Amino acid sequence: MTRTAAIAGLLALSLPAQASSGLPFIINTWGGPFTAATDAAYLSLQNPATSALDAVQVGCSTCERNQCDGSVGFGGSPDENCETTLDAMIMDGTTMKSGAVAGLRRIKDAIAVARYVLEYTTHTLLAGDLATQFAVSNGFPLSNLTTAEQAARCTAWREDNCQPNYRINVTPDPKSSCGPYTGTALNSTSPAYKRAITPDASQTSHDTISMIAIHASGIMAAGTSTNGATWKVPGRVGDGPITGSGSYVDGDIGGCGATGDGDIMMRFLPCYQAVENLRQGMSPKLAAEDAVKRILRKYPEGSYGIVVVDKYGEHGGAGSGWTFTYAFRGGSMNATEVVSVPPLNETRLVMQA
Ligand SMILES: *[C@@H]1O[C@H](CO)[C@@H](O)[C@H](O)[C@H]1NC(C)=O
Ligand SMILES: *[C@@H]1O[C@H](CO)[C@@H](O)[C@H](O)[C@H]1NC(C)=O
Ligand SMILES: *[C@@H]1O[C@H](CO)[C@@H](O)[C@H](O)[C@H]1NC(C)=O
Ligand SMILES: *[C@@H]1O[C@H](CO)[C@@H](O)[C@H](O)[C@H]1NC(C)=O
Repeated sequence: MTRTAAIAGLLALSLPAQASSGLPFIINTWGGPFTAATDAAYLSLQNPATSALDAVQVGCSTCERNQCDGSVGFGGSPDENCETTLDAMIMDGTTMKSGAVAGLRRIKDAIAVARYVLEYTTHTLLAGDLATQFAVSNGFPLSNLTTAEQAARCTAWREDNCQPNYRINVTPDPKSSCGPYTGTALNSTSPAYKRAITPDASQTSHDTISMIAIHASGIMAAGTSTNGATWKVPGRVGDGPITGSGSYVDGDIGGCGATGDGDIMMRFLPCYQAVENLRQGMSPKLAAEDAVKRILRKYPEGSYGIVVVDKYGEHGGAGSGWTFTYAFRGGSMNATEVVSVPPLNETRLVMQA
């Protein structure tokens, strides 16, 4: 098939982008329990004194407090040591400034701390214990992010020989044993090495809230908050706090929010790509599909979801490996609507390549 024919086929198979319902406008990854965040952010913008950044913070904080589906905030996605750590980022679409925290320990309000990084430093990203220290010095309370329910889950995981986990090329065999692990010698010229660094399998837990807000004045902001991947290696940071990966916004163009296998997605900066696609004239839907396809070329097995909105509130999404959903509410809508995005068909993608 010629490239033009392939593109024409893709256009024909793509659902049209959803027309804007008007401003102010909120859109975020996932429906279901995540719609409480959409509503909270949308309602906050009914007061014109609330900024787009405020709305993103209100929305993501809602998930941090009510835990959404367990993938945001305290009490979810424990690491191998049963600790929950939080990643969050918030970005201003006017200045392109972003603030983020990664591997934040013992503090519940990750997106609020990210906002402090944005507003009270000239940095972009603070990490780990020192991010905690920054939060405490700004008045955030310390708390235990492990719930009794999560502690019980961790006990069961250890009794099941720490399955699943993210270790590879270590002894003892991570497919049947808990650690401590040591790396096995890798010989980069042996045929076995290719298999050792082959694209890895998809992850077990990867939902995240990523949200974009458009104020009635047209000013945009975006943000992400997540507790990462369940049973991660302690210290792991995913795509969430990475500008251009977890989310991205350029108020002159539009914004994007992502969810999925973060370790893979952050290698492609899919939200940066999607917003640049909008800049080149693609519809939100095509911009999202193109960003996901770039990942699928190398990692067809993972689960990915991307929601894209232009500065007028026209939106579209793309996903693979699962049925991705996103939620939006704008203009005078009385309730949040959820859009279900069928996974991209990999066979079709391979034919196009
Ligand atoms: C945090 O709470 C969990 C669950 O109640 C408990 O198992 C754990 O020991 C607590 N951690 C600390 C440091 O207090
Ligand atoms: C690495 O593997 C290659 C090919 O199997 C072999 O020829 C070479 O001796 C190995 N090098 C080391 C240091 O083991
Ligand atoms: C919202 O609800 C009001 C009152 O029930 C109704 O008049 C209006 O048409 C609704 N608007 C939309 C966009 O559904
Ligand atoms: C994907 O597309 C191919 C080619 O059009 C088709 O044969 C196949 O049935 C599709 N698979 C799914 C899961 O839709």
